[in-house]
Amino acid sequence: MKTILIAGGNSGIGLQAARDLLADGHRLVLLGRDPRKGEAALASFGAAADRATFLAADLSTHDGVRDAAQRVLGQHDRIDALVHTTGVFTSQESRTADGLHPFFTINYLSRYHLTQLLLPALRRAERPVVLMMTAAVPPTDDADFARFPEFAPFDFGHDRKPIQLANHHYAAHLTRTEPGLAAGVINAGAVKTDILRIAPWYMRAGAKVLGPVLFDSVETSARSVVEATRRDDWQDPVYWGKPGRFEQRTPIALDATTTQHLMDASRRLADA
Ligand SMILES: NC(=O)c1ccc[n+]([C@@H]2O[C@H](COP(=O)([O-])OP(=O)(O)OC[C@H]3O[C@@H](n4cnc5c(N)ncnc54)[C@H](OP(=O)(O)O)[C@@H]3O)[C@@H](O)[C@H]2O)c1
Repeated sequence: MKTILIAGGNSGIGLQAARDLLADGHRLVLLGRDPRKGEAALASFGAAADRATFLAADLSTHDGVRDAAQRVLGQHDRIDALVHTTGVFTSQESRTADGLHPFFTINYLSRYHLTQLLLPALRRAERPVVLMMTAAVPPTDDADFARFPEFAPFDFGHDRKPIQLANHHYAAHLTRTEPGLAAGVINAGAVKTDILRIAPWYMRAGAKVLGPVLFDSVETSARSVVEATRRDDWQDPVYWGKPGRFEQRTPIALDATTTQHLMDASRRLADA
């Protein structure tokens, strides 16, 4: 039985992955912001709920991540897989208590920070796995990181790519620096979940009209998460670009100097 932590596991794609991994017989730890959604998720698991716990955490701030990591480590000394499906979809300017944009902290920095703090527990696993979910962002070296990490003022059109690509750089960094650890990035595709709740109205309207035709199912979107924790026939940092197609992977081969620059900046911010 593996112990698998899903940050974002109380909702949407993370919740579907939790259901599938519970069906495989694993023990699950779910992190999310809304305790009511956490309780509802546990209640929906039926008898399998005795292998799942939910911890409410605000992962948008450094303190919130530290507190969550401390509580997880207090309950689990080994983590076999860490899955990041936390995310917000906002184009508005706003700042967390640390002066950073929430799209940056939730869709990238909290993943870096939480993983760094949980490394002692991941290192106790036979084959630790770290997975990060993003939108469709193939691993390329053409993003502009000049505004990293402040992204001020926030410009969604310009900043979403470097923010999400930082996940790919972190996957490359992890596999380079943590012997035996496998890390990858998974494209969520387009799925009707709570992610659209604070999206601009025209996106919500578009999703309502086109969603039934164009969207992936939540099961399809969660599939590569589930397969990547089930199987050990992948190792190098990889990007799964097609929802549901685990066999179709792109190696993450990025400029190492950029990776180092982003990791140095992340370490300074999170102090981890
Ligand atoms: N659905 C899509 O079409 C789509 C497209 C592109 C990328 N993605 C990415 O796919 C991943 C899964 O998203 P989803 O579609 O399943 O959306 P979702 O249902 O809204 O799930 C997002 C998760 O992130 C958590 N979260 C947000 N802010 C948080 C915070 N400050 N602290 C702790 N947890 C926080 C949410 O918890 P609460 O619900 O408790 O707030 C929820 O569990 C995300 O990374 C998203 O960016 C999705």
